[in-house]
Amino acid sequence: MKDFAGKVLFITGGASGAGFGQAKVFADAGCKVVIADIRQGHLNEATAYFKEKNIKVHAIKLDITDRKAYAEAADEVEKIYGGPPQMLFNTAGVNAFGPVEASTFEDYDWVMGVCLGGVINGMVTFVPRMIKAGKGGYIATTASMGGFMGVAGCAPYSAAKAAVINLMESYWQGLRPYGIGISCLCPAGIKTNIAEASYTRPTRLANTGYNTNEKTIEFMRYHYSFGIDPVELAQILKKGIENEQLYILPMPEPEKTMRDIVERMVNFTTPEGTKRQEELSKKRMEEMRKHPMPGLEGAAEAGWGRARPDLTWVKSYGPGGPPPKKE
Ligand code: NAI
Repeated sequence: MKDFAGKVLFITGGASGAGFGQAKVFADAGCKVVIADIRQGHLNEATAYFKEKNIKVHAIKLDITDRKAYAEAADEVEKIYGGPPQMLFNTAGVNAFGPVEASTFEDYDWVMGVCLGGVINGMVTFVPRMIKAGKGGYIATTASMGGFMGVAGCAPYSAAKAAVINLMESYWQGLRPYGIGISCLCPAGIKTNIAEASYTRPTRLANTGYNTNEKTIEFMRYHYSFGIDPVELAQILKKGIENEQLYILPMPEPEKTMRDIVERMVNFTTPEGTKRQEELSKKRMEEMRKHPMPGLEGAAEAGWGRARPDLTWVKSYGPGGPPPKKE
């Protein structure tokens, strides 16, 4: 898709971070943007931004895990614009960090409910409407690099994103006859408000096995401040959509990155390969220790990625690393 002018674009999570960046870039490209988000505060800030720029956007408060509310949001769009959107961006997402063995049912239900269930709800709500409207269209979903591998420090998130990456290929195949294109954006770090994701966690799913508190949230704010700028990321997404690319990896050498990912999986299929992979992982860890990624210092002190303190049987440290040595 190359011509965005006049197209109605529905963006979940469109009031913050990556989604807000997409709203800015695609509104500039001429789209009629609808931003749907669970946080009223984010919606207020985003609409104030567009109002000041004299750009018309429509805001809807929506929890994408609520199927009834999602259908009502779709009806609202049809009523306002005279039909369903021609473009859908499934961008809303949440994350949570802690050792895989500490994960509770609620950690899975919340993270996978939003990151995978929310995407499924978007597809099931809008795809039939888009097909029936007969105008073709485009759907872009934000997954994550984390979806290409198992990650012991954020297992529900990785699993959800892996499923989303897979699901997008199914839709990419299935929607071609209808002229509906699909892209799946797989970023690494983005400079967003995702550190605050737990503020949107429903109370019925509050039981977590992870150490999540204001200190860890503060650390995550710092950590994510090193990520790519959301507007820059949205420009990369736009180029990927113009090229009708299924997977969009916003990094300098996407093919090399993907080859390393595939190599890891190939290695795990034989005993020799498994040994090779373990050595490779050890080497990479040593390299990382020598040149630590900016934005990770302070993780252990903040207790980031640890288990809930009362789960004393959990012995691993998660992505935050071992606790700081006592003097
Ligand atoms: P963000 O927190 O700045 O924006 C996400 C928005 O989604 C927020 O406004 C939030 O209120 C909304 N949201 C959360 N749950 C919702 C629900 N149930 N219904 C409707 N809206 C909901 O975070 P960010 O980073 O912009 O996240 C966007 C996407 O990017 C997510 O899918 C995330 O997994 C993905 N991502 C983020 C990375 C990062 O480093 N920040 C890296 C890779 C992927």
